[in-house]
Amino acid sequence: MTRRPMMAANWKMNKTIREAQEYTAALLPRAADSEDVDVVVCVPFTCLHEVGRMAGDSTVIAGAQNFYHEDSGAYTGEVSAPMLLDVEAGAVIVGHSERREVFGETDDMVARKAKRAVEAGILPIVCVGETKEERDAGDMWEKVSGQVGQVLEELEDAGGESLVFAYEPIWAIGTGDTATPEDAQDAIGKIRDLLRETQGDDFAASVRILYGGSVKPENAAEIMAQEGIDGALVGGASLEVESFVELIGAAQNAVAQTEQ
Ligand code: 13P
Repeated sequence: MTRRPMMAANWKMNKTIREAQEYTAALLPRAADSEDVDVVVCVPFTCLHEVGRMAGDSTVIAGAQNFYHEDSGAYTGEVSAPMLLDVEAGAVIVGHSERREVFGETDDMVARKAKRAVEAGILPIVCVGETKEERDAGDMWEKVSGQVGQVLEELEDAGGESLVFAYEPIWAIGTGDTATPEDAQDAIGKIRDLLRETQGDDFAASVRILYGGSVKPENAAEIMAQEGIDGALVGGASLEVESFVELIGAAQNAVAQTEQ
């Protein structure tokens, strides 16, 4: 089974609507060539309607960076799946380490969000990853398998193509300290083995697993060349259209090389 690569931008808490318009206007014509790669741009809620409107029927998918699993009610400050559908969001980041570490999201909350997104037909990009201390203590897999396992327990009979995982080691985020391609491949390989053991071969073969953490144009080709790594979730290097377009190009080249 061939999985379609994905290059996903995570703008985090950056850009006004005006800046988002400029970015999207510059990106759309350049992303149109990347027919073999899913291009996702996860933007602040305030920009989502506009980016989604501009992206329209193009190949670019507008995504959110978070949401709450209940549909409506007394949850001040939250945004629900029906609200994301209202602005035609096609994807949502779930359980980013910044949500977990800064805002106290638990594995249980993340799993409920992943389930609700799948039910709503919004592609969740579920983030997992360990801290530096956990890695140094040899606990990387205990942490990551717990995070992945809890999501899988909630999912019931969802198909593998209905969600995406992103392995983002926390020590590699925003630090310039990228995991080696071998470390990234090792962790992603273990995640896929776990998916196979618990959900079966078809599920494991169809789930896309991205790498995230200091991905830049200079290291993207090496990361994308690793077997089993289906793309990247990119923070800093996605904020400029030029470097994000280079990253999309790296994913496109990786497809071309496997087809040779
Ligand atoms: P950087 O690419 O800035 O390291 O951020 C990674 C990330 O957190 C993407 O979700």
